[in-house]
Amino acid sequence: MTIQKIMVIGAGQMGSGIAQVCAMAGFEVILHDLNEEIVHKGISSIKKQLQKQVEKEKLTNSEKEEIIQRLNVSSTLDDVKKADLIIEAIIEKMEVKTSLFEKLDQLASEKTILATNTSSLPITEIAAATARPDRVIGMHFMNPVPVMKLVEIIRGLATSDEVYEQIEAVTRKLNKTPVEVQDFPGFVSNRILMPMINEAIFTVYEGVAEPEAVDEVMKLGMNHPMGPLTLADFIGLDTCLYIMETLHEGFGDDKYRPCPLLRKYVKAGWLGRKSGRGFYQYS
Ligand code: NAI
Repeated sequence: MTIQKIMVIGAGQMGSGIAQVCAMAGFEVILHDLNEEIVHKGISSIKKQLQKQVEKEKLTNSEKEEIIQRLNVSSTLDDVKKADLIIEAIIEKMEVKTSLFEKLDQLASEKTILATNTSSLPITEIAAATARPDRVIGMHFMNPVPVMKLVEIIRGLATSDEVYEQIEAVTRKLNKTPVEVQDFPGFVSNRILMPMINEAIFTVYEGVAEPEAVDEVMKLGMNHPMGPLTLADFIGLDTCLYIMETLHEGFGDDKYRPCPLLRKYVKAGWLGRKSGRGFYQYS
């Protein structure tokens, strides 16, 4: 089967980035979310990104228009019937993802591959919600998707070699570098990154330093391009909390305990950049 049409489910920061790179690589794309208003918000952020590329002379105006033509809006799950590959990028909650995968499995053609952009949840468990675990795979993009080169590819227990190879080929077509990792909580990227971010939050919680100071230490001292708290705001504090909970539950070790300050911010609705406030304020 050749993959031509990709449906991206979830038009938030990751889903719209994934839709953008798929359309730029020449795939027909259907971008889906709970309602059309959210999808249009995603599409307008893609248009802004593309316009920036035109201004930098990396794209011509007509290339930009062709990319936009390949993006289709969807607010009904029935559209999955048209897709060869579905990439899910909705909220990082197991029960929400498994309930979606059950529906996708019922609606999609039996050949359709179901990929998830989860940052930490077990692929095997998501796959088990379907009757096609051999056609379910993890495709973990990095944020911001159009800029970052890596895609972690995670096989579930039953993922077939054929599906793995197809996803590896799609990843290369998107001009990204695939890296195969095994299905363990947080995979490689977030198993290493999130405990560092959580520890940065603990240093603020314990009054060791202000957020600006923590970020400055990691930027100037460790040569990180962005401090961990700026990065946490960028990722979304809700997503950071869900990932820490997955690590804590999966490994059972206290070193993965989410910082109470992280919980407090999420409860307050301080989710970082996307809500206008996290460790920093955004206008
Ligand atoms: P987001 O909050 O920006 O977007 C999530 C979108 O999913 C929202 O537009 C929401 O309306 C939609 N949604 C929720 N339930 C839905 C459903 N049942 N059907 C259709 N749409 C639904 O979140 P973000 O940051 O884009 O994260 C999405 C996924 O990507 C999560 O699994 C996250 O762990 C993963 N991820 C996030 C990264 C980040 O840096 N934020 C990096 C890599 C992966």
